[in-house]
Amino acid sequence: MSATPLRFSRVVGALPSIVPFVPPEAFEREMGAALRLRIGANESNFGPSPKAVAAMSAASAHANWYCDPEGHVLREALARRHDCRRDNIALGAGADALLGLTVRSFIDVGEPVVMSTGGYATFAFHVNGFGGKLVTVPYRGDRNDPMALAAAARKCSARLVYLANPDNPSGSWLDAATQLKLLADLPKGCILVLDEAYADFTRPGILPECDPEDTRLIRVRTFSKAHGMAGARIGYAIAPAEVVRAFDKIRDHFGVNRVAQEGALASLGDPGFIADVVRQVEAGRQDYERIARDLGLVPLPSMTNFVAIDCGSNARAKAVLTRLRERERVFIRMPGLPPLDRCIRVSVGTPPERALFAEALRRVLADLPAA
Ligand SMILES: Cc1ncc(COP(=O)(O)O)c(C=O)c1O
Repeated sequence: MSATPLRFSRVVGALPSIVPFVPPEAFEREMGAALRLRIGANESNFGPSPKAVAAMSAASAHANWYCDPEGHVLREALARRHDCRRDNIALGAGADALLGLTVRSFIDVGEPVVMSTGGYATFAFHVNGFGGKLVTVPYRGDRNDPMALAAAARKCSARLVYLANPDNPSGSWLDAATQLKLLADLPKGCILVLDEAYADFTRPGILPECDPEDTRLIRVRTFSKAHGMAGARIGYAIAPAEVVRAFDKIRDHFGVNRVAQEGALASLGDPGFIADVVRQVEAGRQDYERIARDLGLVPLPSMTNFVAIDCGSNARAKAVLTRLRERERVFIRMPGLPPLDRCIRVSVGTPPERALFAEALRRVLADLPAA
């Protein structure tokens, strides 16, 4: 074996080794047993639309062909949906890929990017991965603090400000007017990266109406949540055409596979299914709120497909998470940083899954000292 030392890029060489998300599959391998319940990753346990499943099955017979790297038909459909031009739509292998493209397109090494402390970890991961400088702002009352985000952006002359709305991991949301005010308060040349992964679950008045050519804004959406296609890896950005052209310079052109493109198109054509998922998720959130209160815990308000449940302290939240996994084979996650790290985060499952969760949580709490 050659002893030539590896020389990584300065940015990658300086990064610590991390496992950003321990997947449920790793826990199953470790336990040597299947999980009984997988409600930790904000996947949709209501599955994809049957129309999407049929389209994906049909497309899989053509998996020998590359995808259309221009994603023409799907981008046309998305443009119609969002009342913009195809040139304003960029496809990516999940919202995550588009967040990465955004950071890579706008951030040089050492340049500042603002987000909330403990906000969606993958965005921070991309900022670190491309050598940006993360400037974080604490949550205020368990939600993103738009005034503090804008103030931090002005102070450090940020190139990007990231806002997940509705937010992960809190589940909280800001209304449209508040987001427009944040946009107006940003320093010149700063772009708001608005991650709307949970857009389908919002009530009216939450998603701001904006010109897709507004050069202060990049919006990111996904088929992973209400459309139930997390494993297919497909999302999109709505952005000025110049931004979409910039992404074209650097993106993985065949990265949004043929099966996913066909599935997403079919899913867009099944609004009744999505509306039903949204209704079921709302009922599920209400269930979780009741389950939490019955057990003396406090659910945080959510407009997503998960609920953060306050367990009283970080130690207690960790104990609940670990015992649910080890004793009950129930997979959930929890926020990593204060103030939300006193919570567990539970994705909405089907009614039988929610009943199973309630029972498992009851048993786990019965064995723990009171908060
Ligand atoms: C705020 C937010 N953005 C993006 C994603 C990931 O989306 P995708 O599966 O499309 O990469 C998630 C998933 O949990 C999320 O919570």
